[in-house]
Amino acid sequence: MGRAVISQFLNLSTTSPRFPSSLLKGQIKSGFLKKPQQIHPPKLILLQNRTSSRCCCSNAAPSETNDTSASSDSPISSVRKRIVSGVQPTGSVHLGNYLGAIKNWITLQNTYETLFFIVDLHAITLPYEPKQLSEATRSTAAIYLACGVDTSKSSVFVQSHVRAHAELMWLLSAVTPIGWLNKMIQFKEKSRKAGDENVGAGLLTYPVLMASDILLYQSDFVPVGADQKQHMELTRELAERVNYLYGGRKWKKMGGRGGSIFKVPEPLIPPAGARVMSLTDGLSKMSKSDPSDQSRINLLDPKDVIKSKIKRCKTDSLPGLEFDNPDRPECNNLLSVYQLVTGKSKEEVARECHDMNWGTFKPLLTDALINHLHPIQVRYEEIMSDSAYLDRVLLDGASKAADIADATLNNVYQAMGFLRR
Ligand code: TYM
Repeated sequence: MGRAVISQFLNLSTTSPRFPSSLLKGQIKSGFLKKPQQIHPPKLILLQNRTSSRCCCSNAAPSETNDTSASSDSPISSVRKRIVSGVQPTGSVHLGNYLGAIKNWITLQNTYETLFFIVDLHAITLPYEPKQLSEATRSTAAIYLACGVDTSKSSVFVQSHVRAHAELMWLLSAVTPIGWLNKMIQFKEKSRKAGDENVGAGLLTYPVLMASDILLYQSDFVPVGADQKQHMELTRELAERVNYLYGGRKWKKMGGRGGSIFKVPEPLIPPAGARVMSLTDGLSKMSKSDPSDQSRINLLDPKDVIKSKIKRCKTDSLPGLEFDNPDRPECNNLLSVYQLVTGKSKEEVARECHDMNWGTFKPLLTDALINHLHPIQVRYEEIMSDSAYLDRVLLDGASKAADIADATLNNVYQAMGFLRR
């Protein structure tokens, strides 16, 4: 792995909050952990947005060849590092999901072993319409493919089709301190919005399911937007906790291989697009749950809708256009979107738009968005019209995923002392 490529990644560990030591002290006092656990701050890796580059990692990340210490019992022996990620099939996939996650998967699949799932089990943690769930799941899968996920390189599957996700979640739930879950920002925000009476336990345990999604595959990296940082920290803490509680010699005594049960994964956060903001408020994240559709560009929005949303989106009255001015969040957001959909560098965009006004820039951005999204929309329609093809992709993806997931799950059962089936 070349030094030049390594240097394109920035280790964000110092900026990322950790679980407070008081929490750990509490565990030790209660005897849950027998000795202080070494909790390292998570390594958050910024994914450089280079279409042709090998995606590599910081100095701190493991070596290029997959460390098989945590996966040698897997029937699939992989020499490539492994990546997993997913999107919930709720609402419509928007530009934030695309620029923060899906678009980066397309580059990563050329270098890594990749598994991309549609997280339907997560989608039921807030009130939802059962009649729409399966259709939204198919549609999200079709969007992955239309965006360029290539089934000759990646496995695409539905989370609920691989039973190990729900099973591992139960096992992990038993070792997840409730205090960790109560601290999750997304839980606090979503439960506040839903009103406490309506909040199901699934919303609280949501991150445990996400950890299962990731740890089942002994994943090295997880490409996500910035809003998933805290869930990734919990996943890492949980992996270390299980390795400490049940791994190593303890696992060997149970007849296992010994060593780590789980690999500790690292998030890949893109330097641009990690937090695409609302079109109506540059300080709020673009989100599926925003009641106003005007706040987001959906990947399947027709041309005239994109045009109207950009025309009406919030701007400011300052002269020129610039990145990184904290007083101009909308300006920074729209320039970043333009940068990502045109594939230009930040410097190029800064130069090009420096003297523009909104009246000049908005049509430019509209055209760039339409040009970028139109081919995706055409492919989406083709894929959706061939349901047998989509079924095959999902069946094949689930079967490959289950082979890897079952091997991990069996290890966990063994290490935790369950009677063999
Ligand atoms: P979800 O469905 O909310 O979002 C899917 C992906 O899109 C990213 N994202 C954004 N990125 C930039 N700007 C935005 N405004 C924006 N909004 C969303 C998210 O960070 C995410 O990467 N918990 C996850 C789904 C999940 C998952 C997993 C992801 C479940 N299991 C395992 C990775 C690995 C979620 O709710 O994503």
